[in-house]
Amino acid sequence: MGSSSTSALLSLLSILVLVPWATSASVEETFLQCLSLRSNPSSPISALVYSSNNSSYQSIYTSTIQNLRFLQSDTPKPLFIITPLNESHVQTAVICAKENGLEIRIRGGGHDYEGLSYRAEVPFLIVDMSNLKTITVDIEDNSAWVQAGATLGELYYRIAEKSNVHGFPGGVCHTVGVSGFLGGGGYGYMLRKYGLGADQVIDAQMVDANGQILNRETMGEDLFWAIRGGGAASFGIILRWKVKLVPVPPVVTIFNPSKTIEEGATKLVHRWQYIADKLHEDVFIRANLELTNTSSGGKTIKVTFSSMFLGTIDTLLPLMNESFPELGLKREDCTEMSWIDAVKNLGGFPDSTVEVLLNRSLQSKSTYKMKSDYVKQPIPESAFEGIWKRFLQVETPIMQLNPYGARMSEISESATPFPHRKGNIYKIQYLVYWQQNGTHDEETKRHINWIRELYKYMTPYVSKFPREAYLNYRDLDIGTNNRGNTSYAQASIWGRKYFKNNFDRLVYVKSKVDPGNFFRNEQSIPAVTAW
Ligand SMILES: Cc1cc2nc3c(=O)[nH]c(=O)nc-3n(C[C@H](O)[C@H](O)[C@H](O)COP(=O)(O)OP(=O)(O)OC[C@H]3O[C@@H](n4cnc5c(N)ncnc54)[C@H](O)[C@@H]3O)c2cc1C
Ligand SMILES: *[C@@H]1O[C@H](CO)[C@@H](O)[C@H](O)[C@H]1NC(C)=O
Ligand SMILES: *[C@@H]1O[C@H](CO)[C@@H](O)[C@H](O)[C@H]1NC(C)=O
Ligand SMILES: *[C@@H]1O[C@H](CO)[C@@H](O)[C@H](O)[C@H]1NC(C)=O
Ligand SMILES: *[C@@H]1O[C@H](CO)[C@@H](O)[C@H](O)[C@H]1NC(C)=O
Ligand SMILES: *[C@@H]1O[C@H](CO)[C@@H](O)[C@H](O)[C@H]1NC(C)=O
Ligand SMILES: *[C@@H]1O[C@H](CO)[C@@H](O)[C@H](O)[C@H]1NC(C)=O
Ligand SMILES: *[C@@H]1O[C@H](CO)[C@@H](O)[C@H](O)[C@H]1NC(C)=O
Ligand SMILES: *[C@@H]1O[C@H](CO)[C@@H](O)[C@H](O)[C@H]1NC(C)=O
Repeated sequence: MGSSSTSALLSLLSILVLVPWATSASVEETFLQCLSLRSNPSSPISALVYSSNNSSYQSIYTSTIQNLRFLQSDTPKPLFIITPLNESHVQTAVICAKENGLEIRIRGGGHDYEGLSYRAEVPFLIVDMSNLKTITVDIEDNSAWVQAGATLGELYYRIAEKSNVHGFPGGVCHTVGVSGFLGGGGYGYMLRKYGLGADQVIDAQMVDANGQILNRETMGEDLFWAIRGGGAASFGIILRWKVKLVPVPPVVTIFNPSKTIEEGATKLVHRWQYIADKLHEDVFIRANLELTNTSSGGKTIKVTFSSMFLGTIDTLLPLMNESFPELGLKREDCTEMSWIDAVKNLGGFPDSTVEVLLNRSLQSKSTYKMKSDYVKQPIPESAFEGIWKRFLQVETPIMQLNPYGARMSEISESATPFPHRKGNIYKIQYLVYWQQNGTHDEETKRHINWIRELYKYMTPYVSKFPREAYLNYRDLDIGTNNRGNTSYAQASIWGRKYFKNNFDRLVYVKSKVDPGNFFRNEQSIPAVTAW
């Protein structure tokens, strides 16, 4: 065959391959065709697309799934997983998913408690951002640009690499992704001094529902407001965040004394409620309530006051003696170290070097259910007695009480979508872990039922009208959108718990920037026509 007829044949073939004929091509085929049509030869996307036919599909899919409850055989799987290496791949994924009526689940660190970053009840693909993880720290400017797929541990590490007096008020567990964290608010041991992670965001780049790349200037202040605590996944795919760094002293102190109820833990945790939010802003004392074994083979409850102080032991001791003498904190309970070592140790790795912060596969995976509450008035001692009774009904119950106050009370409720500011003494996180055996097994039912009963029991003691909840402690029990029906009324049930009156502004922004409701999930902000 001559070369001209060869090329004619080739172009005929490529037309046959590329032109979708609606009646016979499956959505999978037309989606892949769309990707290859839009693929840039200098940065091809096909090598970054996994379907169940690819041998590494399964390992990529499971790589960052934290909650094994959503790693069951009947959990719906994505048609495709795309792992962008280039920001243009994210744009292509959005445009082709939209063209083909596929929903997108955006995955950062994969820690969503309800698995919303990697599961859906409709045909969907996962855009997994974990390859986009470059972090550029600018000490002079007191800021960092962080790509959306980075983890908190990577951010801490890159800051500490350049300075021992700069830090970031991120979360406790270093494998958490920056995007879920910042998009939902995000707190940790420096919450009282500096506020949320989201409070430090000063710019962002994202891909919107039209596949356009926006930054703070081009997205406008409404959208920029919404993605800092309103759940970025309702609005687009974040490519990178610019955050302010915060000052940390060269030496911080950590301490975590504990007491069992036999040693007076009930009185102590009751007392803690009166001081935790009023302490000096440099002190953060979290109370962890858990079950523990007694030496005689029984079970009891232990309260651990897991804490960080932004300063030395010498400054801390008189301060604690004055404001929380009941704790009886002694010099030998305290350890001085750098901020980065404190972050590593409090994250659970006292025996590792700081390089552990770069390890993404450390978090031991398990099966769990979590819920949250906000407390505005100290709860009575008798209520704790009731909690202890319930704790003894399961193997691994935990409650974490995280103090607010200080900086958190100075930031207005509407400054970001995260509304839980002044007036909150502390936030409760309820956790229960269990060993799962199948999807709807008895153990799963028993434990989910248990935590719902505990939540019901707590009703009189926690915030009301609405009963507030923390978006990053995602809980589908508090309400979900109807599939295919983005009713404002329905969404406002869960929306007001997470956002209070900020919910209305979120709906307004959503309706403006994504009126077709392309970015949606079980708890995404609805788009309405009547704005
Ligand atoms: C072990 C553990 C410890 C935790 N500790 C803390 C803590 O100390 N403080 C705290 O505040 N929270 C904590 N959390 C909660 C955590 O902040 C949230 O689960 C957070 O949403 C996780 O972010 P991720 O990126 O890892 O999760 P993902 O599951 O990947 O994402 C969470 C949500 O963000 C969306 N999202 C992710 N990336 C993007 C993006 N690029 N653009 C748009 N949307 C995106 C997802 O679609 C999903 O809706 C913890 C969770 C776990 C499991
Ligand atoms: C998955 O398989 C398809 C078809 O065999 C191939 O084109 C694609 O490059 C593979 N993806 C990856 C990431 O290897
Ligand atoms: C997977 O392979 C099967 C058979 O080999 C094929 O029919 C199907 O189209 C492939 N799916 C994708 C998404 O490539
Ligand atoms: C990303 O893609 C753009 C074009 O879409 C290209 O100019 C750029 O070089 C690519 N970057 C990388 C790191 O591949
Ligand atoms: C408590 O004892 C049980 C066995 O009775 C054991 O399985 C569990 O690991 C122990 N828990 C702790 C925290 O030591
Ligand atoms: C604690 O304060 C009391 C007085 O309020 C004082 O008598 C005591 O010496 C102080 N203890 C320490 C360790 O500072
Ligand atoms: C990360 O931690 C896991 C679990 O401890 C370990 O198996 C793995 O080798 C570590 N990875 C790196 C790169 O150190
Ligand atoms: C798991 O469930 C199956 C039945 O679904 C049962 O046969 C098996 O014994 C269970 N295993 C455990 C460890 O409970
Ligand atoms: C949508 O939800 C609203 C509120 O729950 C309900 O009144 C309405 O009937 C629903 N519509 C459809 C089509 O399901």
